[in-house]
Amino acid sequence: MDKRPTIFAISNQKGGVGKTTTTVNLATALAALQKKVLIIDLDPQGNATVSFGLQRMIAGKSSYTVLMGKYLLKDSFVPTQIPYLYVLPASQELLGVDLELSGAERSQFFLKSAIETLTDFDYIFIDCPPAVGMLTMNALVAATDIIIPIQCEYLALEGVADLLKTIEKVRKNFNPFLKIKGIVLTMFDGRSNLSKSVVQDVRSYFGSLAFETIIPRNVRIPEAPSHGKPVMLYDFKSVGAQSYLQLAKEVLDREKENING
Ligand SMILES: Nc1ncnc2c1ncn2[C@@H]1O[C@H](COP(=O)(O)OP(=O)(O)OP(=O)(O)O)[C@@H](O)[C@H]1O
Ligand SMILES: [Mg+2]
Repeated sequence: MDKRPTIFAISNQKGGVGKTTTTVNLATALAALQKKVLIIDLDPQGNATVSFGLQRMIAGKSSYTVLMGKYLLKDSFVPTQIPYLYVLPASQELLGVDLELSGAERSQFFLKSAIETLTDFDYIFIDCPPAVGMLTMNALVAATDIIIPIQCEYLALEGVADLLKTIEKVRKNFNPFLKIKGIVLTMFDGRSNLSKSVVQDVRSYFGSLAFETIIPRNVRIPEAPSHGKPVMLYDFKSVGAQSYLQLAKEVLDREKENING
């Protein structure tokens, strides 16, 4: 029987909050737990692609050519050094998508249609760019769930209200069943009162939607991509790797709750 993958859009229009880091490392942790996982790098920056030591595409098969219907998704993703984990690389051509798709009919559904042909994955992650243009719109329309990383820093919640409005709009017009799977607090610094107060603010605003697991600041995390590896491969014992593994277990627990409840 075909199974429907869970499709996570990792999104927050604020830049540098840990979207790509969460995509790469949560996906890796789920693959380590023997789930079959695909990462779709939908950010023209291509940071998720590069984090696996892969190259952004120029004219080859990429998330851009899949979005534009030039190649099938199933023929376009590539394996990583991690069993069970595959990546659809980004391309700089994604930069032109807003312009190219403006006015095209049902252009919000292009990624959804491309993903619908794929049935043998457990999880698909879509790494979104820090903007609410056509790329993020396509991700939110294709997704079953959204994961929102929030950095434990000054103005952490800035822009989140706008994101929630965007999600409402997407539910109303395109994807009524889109769920917020959870809020991930990232780059937590235990010595900083500011970090602690952001955790409190986020927990009082979002309640149990915020994951219990908090990702601490850890130097191994920014080091790992320069070696072309997720942090679990680069330094398995680091708190960075262990906290993403913990987060993956929490995500799986939430999945079970959804099925049972
Ligand atoms: N827990 C952490 N500890 C230390 N550094 C981190 C941590 N998480 C992310 N970083 C670093 O912070 C920077 C921003 O993270 P990341 O690229 O994941 O954010 P992003 O939201 O994807 O950014 P963009 O909006 O540009 O796509 C990166 O250099 C990353 O390595
Ligand atoms: Mg990113």
